[in-house]
Amino acid sequence: GTVDPDAAKGLRFRPVEPNTVDAVVVPEGYAQSVVIRWGDPILRGAPAFDQARQTAAAQAGQFGYNNDFLHLFDLPGERGRQVLVANHEYTDEILMFPAYDAANPTREQVEIAWAAHGLSVVVVEEERHSGRLYPVSRHGLNRRLHTRTAFRLTGPAAGSPLLRTKADPTGTKVLGTLNNCAGGTTPWGTVLSGEENFNQYFGNAASVTDPVTAERLKRYGIAGAASERKWERFDDRFDLAKEPNEVNRFGWIVELDPFDPDSTPRKHTALGRFKHEAAQPRLTDDGRPVVYMGDDERFDYMYKFVASKAMRHGTGRAVREHNLSLLDEGTLYVARLTGDSPAAEFDGNGKLPSDGEFDGSGEWIKLASGTTSFVEGMTAEEVYLFTRMAADKAGATKMDRPEDVEPSPRTGRVYVALTNNTNRGKAGSAGADEANPRSNNKHGHVLELAEFFDDPAADRFAWRLFLVAGDPADPATYFAGFPKDDVSPISCPDNVAFDPHGNLWISTDGAPGTLGTHDALFGVAVKGDKRGQVRQFLSVPKGAETCGPIVQDQRVLVAVQHPGETDASTYENPSSRWPDGGKRIPRPSVVVVWRKDGRDIGV
Ligand code: FEO
Ligand code: CA
Ligand code: CA
Ligand code: CA
Repeated sequence: GTVDPDAAKGLRFRPVEPNTVDAVVVPEGYAQSVVIRWGDPILRGAPAFDQARQTAAAQAGQFGYNNDFLHLFDLPGERGRQVLVANHEYTDEILMFPAYDAANPTREQVEIAWAAHGLSVVVVEEERHSGRLYPVSRHGLNRRLHTRTAFRLTGPAAGSPLLRTKADPTGTKVLGTLNNCAGGTTPWGTVLSGEENFNQYFGNAASVTDPVTAERLKRYGIAGAASERKWERFDDRFDLAKEPNEVNRFGWIVELDPFDPDSTPRKHTALGRFKHEAAQPRLTDDGRPVVYMGDDERFDYMYKFVASKAMRHGTGRAVREHNLSLLDEGTLYVARLTGDSPAAEFDGNGKLPSDGEFDGSGEWIKLASGTTSFVEGMTAEEVYLFTRMAADKAGATKMDRPEDVEPSPRTGRVYVALTNNTNRGKAGSAGADEANPRSNNKHGHVLELAEFFDDPAADRFAWRLFLVAGDPADPATYFAGFPKDDVSPISCPDNVAFDPHGNLWISTDGAPGTLGTHDALFGVAVKGDKRGQVRQFLSVPKGAETCGPIVQDQRVLVAVQHPGETDASTYENPSSRWPDGGKRIPRPSVVVVWRKDGRDIGV
């Protein structure tokens, strides 16, 4: 049957077996459909997708490429409708365009890519008596934000000389957002979106001779001559030799108000600049947002921001303006973790320490607050702009690629996906420690963090590893102590979300290279006697990564990112034809899953 009672409430589905099927595979008794695909028209005047006749003008009104973070908002006043917000992280030109010549992209191809990045806001409508969702094209809230949309830099570093360019002498007005990976939502009804690997879009870093600037570029992975996509040939702002500060205007947390289609989204300098994976707030008892964030790079850090002002309730203009300014004032911190077992017990093999847990204490180290810097030798402005260098000086703990971060709405405990780090323990790199206990960590782990006295603004916390991922047959795995003969294999945790029952859901990015099976979505109880029982809910097509999970009572949504992205896969001969089949090219798409008998997911 559909129900497997031997699991926590919300996870009582029959787990999907690890597989390499070129489709979205869901549990027995569940149904699925595609909500929206790359290229589907969402704005007035946008044409239907035609893979042979793509234009930048069409793309600017169509759903973007490589959907990642997703959020659904209720839409008051319109029954059966919700507002979907999606990130579009990056473009896969070799899969998008026929006969793509990476050395010589055409202007039209580059402009299509510019328009395919960013975010989409699209209203979706529920089909009666099913879980299906349809896009409502041309709805007044629908919006595309891309590489040429106006954004405003706000907060303490806005207007800095290091943010000024020829086109914007104020240092506050930026065109576009790039590499929007995961994100979060605020209690005041806006979306936060992380600008992650922005480094890849800027060319001619090698021409920079000033040693201070060169060191900063290097710390952010901005190197070499031509960029991969050659955008610098078509717009000087992507050429570091011509516009050295444009790159400083990316790498921020973006905030978008999806209910105000005319609003200018913000880039919050107070939250620091790094390869932002995601950002998820939680409120203190007195209503101040605390935002948890990860910097997705091997040996980079976990951060939090504590706002100084409290959120206000209500929907009036003044209230919304106040709430949109909350992330401009506060204190930025980075995490230092200390294990409680002897360091000698961590030789990189992932064996549990003698006290039976990878655990310890931690502190949040202050980096900057307003115009005050707490880092020797750096101004506050420098801390916000070159946050990685500030955190290096502060002695933060080097983690195994901090990806998505999610506080449990029930317990306040914060879960951090540490996706992998195959350089851990290599010569010249940091070795294993209690928080990152495996050398050559190819499967990743999930950390659970509890603030002192459950106060999100606390400067101390306790932590332990919740999962050490991999094939459960591998002794160097840990499922919160749950028996390993009753868990699904899991590798490379990336996005995390909670369901209405308080279970954690984890989507993965990298299983094909580690377990040899497709990436997937898993649910796991974090409390009770099933704590640690990881169960696979679905798998995604060949070459795809599972992103943006949303788990509601009656629906699960996932963003299927980069289907067909495998070695030697091209437009002419892609490794996946999902979702359209036939001669159609693969299209990143949002999928909804529901239960055929109309009951809630996993009960
Ligand atoms: Fe875009 Fe860190 O995943
Ligand atoms: Ca320990
Ligand atoms: Ca991600
Ligand atoms: Ca990832």
